[in-house]
Amino acid sequence: MSQKRVLSGIQPTSDSFHLGNYLGAVKQWVELQDTHDTFYCIVDLHALTIETDPALLRKRTLASAAQLLALGISPEKSTLFIQSQVPQHNQLGWIMECMAGFGEASRMTQFKDKSAKVGSDSARVGLFTYPMLQAADILLYQADLVPVGEDQRQHIELTRDLAGRFNARYGDTFTLPEAYILKAGAKINDIQDPTSKMSKSSGSGAGVIEIMDSPDANLKKIKSAVTDAGREVKFDQSEKPGISNLLTIHSALSGRTIAELENEFEGKGYGDFKSAVADVVVEYLRPIRERALELLQDEKHLLSVLHDGSAKARTVAGATVDATYKGLGVVQ
Ligand code: TYM
Repeated sequence: MSQKRVLSGIQPTSDSFHLGNYLGAVKQWVELQDTHDTFYCIVDLHALTIETDPALLRKRTLASAAQLLALGISPEKSTLFIQSQVPQHNQLGWIMECMAGFGEASRMTQFKDKSAKVGSDSARVGLFTYPMLQAADILLYQADLVPVGEDQRQHIELTRDLAGRFNARYGDTFTLPEAYILKAGAKINDIQDPTSKMSKSSGSGAGVIEIMDSPDANLKKIKSAVTDAGREVKFDQSEKPGISNLLTIHSALSGRTIAELENEFEGKGYGDFKSAVADVVVEYLRPIRERALELLQDEKHLLSVLHDGSAKARTVAGATVDATYKGLGVVQ
């Protein structure tokens, strides 16, 4: 039987991915490579919904590729590509915009949050149509599974709705995708503000653990992580959001269960626990950062991996656009 298809994407909107990106998504991307037919996309077109500096976009797109490779995405196992190098994303994106209702697009919580932040005069139309482009990303590859963090669940639901609507009206064309969201890691929180999601756009960045940050900087950040009232290292999301977040991070990186960690730190204070979390994170990320920096030295190699991936992606995406146009009655 042929392998199930996986697609996911990540925006090149900062110099570094953070632990939320890794534990919520990319860690699963790496694991799925061995059992699934995997397509992973650096979604540079999605990054254009906010004002971008051209030099930064280029730098961050290459840095994203280097980090994904350093985190374990293998070009032999996966198709790794840049969204803008596959023009079918724009082609199917438009079709998806024509399938979506204005009201349903207006209910997307990420759009509501992000447009509220900048105000409706500054929010771009692209921010509104963003989820339909994301639907196209997924449907072009006939993906069965989409490994993402919890914040993307609503976009995957919309994608299913749009695909189902198209299939019902124009004939079976798209596979209905399912979100693949693991319980542990689905939402990693900011370590300074542990009731909010760790995010590339967080104000000071003091609560965001970045993969490309120096080991020293990450050590300091974790040692000054916000903890909670009391002294016990116990998982309790509502009473101890700070400690629970750190337990989740430790467990996901060390492979030990939360119960084991609670046992180990019984009777010890938060200080000891934070030192242990810092060690685990810093030692886990150290070789990844070094490898990413090394990969960034050889831009030619990075570009050639991405060009190969994009060529493969265009073949698959092209077939889907042909089938979509055929269903719609577009003259070809
Ligand atoms: P982006 O670039 O914001 O984030 C990439 C992935 O990281 C996950 N993530 C988190 N997971 C757990 N805890 C966190 N604090 C955290 N922060 C981010 C996200 O859920 C995501 O899986 N719209 C997408 C990009 C996209 C996409 C796609 C994803 C475009 N097309 C097609 C899947 C399929 C986004 O903005 O992700």
